[in-house]
Amino acid sequence: MNHLLSIRDLDRKHVLDIFKLTAELKAKVKAGERVTPLAGRTLALIFEKPSLRTRVTFEVAMVQLGGAAVYLSAQEIGMGKRESVPDIARNLSRWVDGIAARVFAHQTLEELARHATVPVINALSDFEHPCQAMADLYTLWERGVELKGLELAWIGDGNNVLNSLLFLCALTGVKMRAACPPGYEPLPAVLEACRSLGGVVRVTTDAREAAEGADVLYTDVWISMGQEGERETRLEAFQRYQVNDTLLRFASPQALVMHCLPAHRGEEITDAVLDGPRSIVLDQAENRLHIQKGIVLHLSGTA
Ligand code: CP
Ligand code: NVA
Repeated sequence: MNHLLSIRDLDRKHVLDIFKLTAELKAKVKAGERVTPLAGRTLALIFEKPSLRTRVTFEVAMVQLGGAAVYLSAQEIGMGKRESVPDIARNLSRWVDGIAARVFAHQTLEELARHATVPVINALSDFEHPCQAMADLYTLWERGVELKGLELAWIGDGNNVLNSLLFLCALTGVKMRAACPPGYEPLPAVLEACRSLGGVVRVTTDAREAAEGADVLYTDVWISMGQEGERETRLEAFQRYQVNDTLLRFASPQALVMHCLPAHRGEEITDAVLDGPRSIVLDQAENRLHIQKGIVLHLSGTA
């Protein structure tokens, strides 16, 4: 069974195949051509947390591919409360052709995947956000940016988005520097796994050191979904990790600015940078749609 729970479920060839497939699908939809290889197919969407981009892009992706998505909120299905995760996986597998799930605990995804007989896609967990990382590197790739040797600086929290980027950058030859406050760095096991994939990564507590000469500055919220109780401590810990005009001046003169969104304007990033000429955040958001079409088709085996 093909699942996408982690970037580690992919290898370099899968990534390039999905990028190429995505580029074809994107060109066709832009040309007004209908491509419907998933006619009659369905994808269940389970969301334990809120979403704008992920929900809309999976739903639109399925419609554009000729299929349909069925949205299920945590409240509706009471995952692990009203019904066990294995039972949900077994039932859904009888009706739909794939399951995308956004969960608090990554283990819930692993449990879904263990008991499902259809592909399971991670639509964000506390550990990874693979669809986001794929959209991000696709966004650079489609601009013609040479990924091998590119210097990407992550400024902020050692979170789910960073974990997926670390693995994907390792697969694609992007070199990473991550500036995180003490105590908020990626887990040693994640860094080890990244390096074992051939990744080059440097972790520092100094945002300016990470930004120095970087080709890309990437940031994300300081308080991820599920961490709202830590708001005050985190706001204090992250004060020196804002992506603003001062930090941007340390990066390469052509540096691009990335953010997975939603942004907390005035916290991890200023309005001027988020809305400024170096920002490609809306391209990233748009490409969530195209890359997820590529991912769903790739996993469906119909590509
Ligand atoms: N970037 C992202 O996953 O956005 P949503 O939380 O709105 O889906
Ligand atoms: N790190 C953020 C990403 C949101 C898309 C979170 O988990 O809330």
